[in-house]
Amino acid sequence: MTENPHPRPAISRKSAGLTGSLRVPGDKSISHRALLFGGLAAGESRITGLLEGEDVLRTGDAMRAMGANIRRDNGMWIVQGTGNGCLLEPTKELDFGNAGTGSRLTMGLVGTYDMKTRFVGDASLSKRPMARVLDPLREMGTQVVEAQPGDRLPITLHGPRHATPITYRVPMASAQVKSAVLLAGLNVAGITTVIEPVMTRDHTEKMLAGFGATLEVETDADGVRHIRLEGQGRLEGQTLDVPGDPSSAAFPLVAALIVPDSDVVIENVLLNPTRTGLILTLQEMGGDIELLNRRSAGGEDVADLRIRSSELKGVEVPADRAPSMIDEYPVLAVAASFAEGETRMLGLEELRVKESDRLSAVADGLKANGVECTEGHDFLVVTGTPGGKGLGGATAATHLDHRIAMSFLVMGLAAEKPVSVDDERMIATSFPEFHPLMSALGARIEVLEEKQP
Ligand code: S3P
Repeated sequence: MTENPHPRPAISRKSAGLTGSLRVPGDKSISHRALLFGGLAAGESRITGLLEGEDVLRTGDAMRAMGANIRRDNGMWIVQGTGNGCLLEPTKELDFGNAGTGSRLTMGLVGTYDMKTRFVGDASLSKRPMARVLDPLREMGTQVVEAQPGDRLPITLHGPRHATPITYRVPMASAQVKSAVLLAGLNVAGITTVIEPVMTRDHTEKMLAGFGATLEVETDADGVRHIRLEGQGRLEGQTLDVPGDPSSAAFPLVAALIVPDSDVVIENVLLNPTRTGLILTLQEMGGDIELLNRRSAGGEDVADLRIRSSELKGVEVPADRAPSMIDEYPVLAVAASFAEGETRMLGLEELRVKESDRLSAVADGLKANGVECTEGHDFLVVTGTPGGKGLGGATAATHLDHRIAMSFLVMGLAAEKPVSVDDERMIATSFPEFHPLMSALGARIEVLEEKQP
């Protein structure tokens, strides 16, 4: 395990209007899958716009350890895959660092191979529940040779000689679980079926079909999705251009709304409908967000977003919207802190098992910085202070969570007093260019010296 033991705090201060245009890095979900599927497919994949964050690079390392050839040439990633069914047994453990998506999808991918694979991660990842992926794998015949109490990392898997195809109803709204089962099915003879009662991001289905998998999706009369994948088919290398990550765009987007006199354009943002809950919610709150130059690129909707500062008002965010904005609640809670009235966010139980318990991390950070809020088991209610008077002045604990760090740094740009975070290192997992891009807009964010223990 590679862990830098020294936290690196950062502070943000009330800023004048943010202006300019920027491109956020490539979508994290699509980038992980581009390396996984490219590394598995026969022949060459060429990927532009890949997110070069730590999480995604670790997925690339794992695929290399199992036989893929992955190199970067002039900003383009060139991947020679092994061919479906032909991954090699890694000779070392696979270290996924902070990455839930990388580790869970790869567990699915290798879980049906007759080989041994060991998974490790950082302190945050080692606390996260893996049973949600191990349970269906066990049904397919995978042996969990080693796991820590509660099915946590480090975990060692050994797949069966011949895995069994299953029909699996995903018990929580999780694209990672859906994806892990489908990826396991790639190496199983017959049809693997995933039943998805609540639709989550559909990048796995769309991209696997693009790589040549035989897969069909049917939505029944109750809106439940049935995804059927035929195993052991041929996957072929593809050319991919990864659009900008809406979950990273969320930070400059909310910053531009809450810092007065801002006018910012974020170019080339993915607008897949399973990812646009935050934009919809902020528009309902009165946010001035224009979608410019809407287009289709590589089978996905993208657009440039023009955002101008706005007087926001509180709204109720319904539980059924949660899957389409699951990673955006921390920064939505920051936007709500500057809105008039109450914002009620419902259906948040999955926030408790992210890189941190995001529900309590957000509530604690907001309270410390003078925001009135109520945390329930699966909801959060925030009462805003338009203009941010009296807000700020404290340090938010980030618990090795990149999105908590970026959210509170955004808060400090509009609060009366500065806002600090105890550790900004994890920002590099998903948005390595966060500091320079925010500074270029006029955001006053400063990274402080590493704290020696
Ligand atoms: C992701 C799915 C979501 C999301 C994560 C990325 C994916 O996790 O929070 O950042 O790429 O499949 P869950 O499946 O746990 O909801």
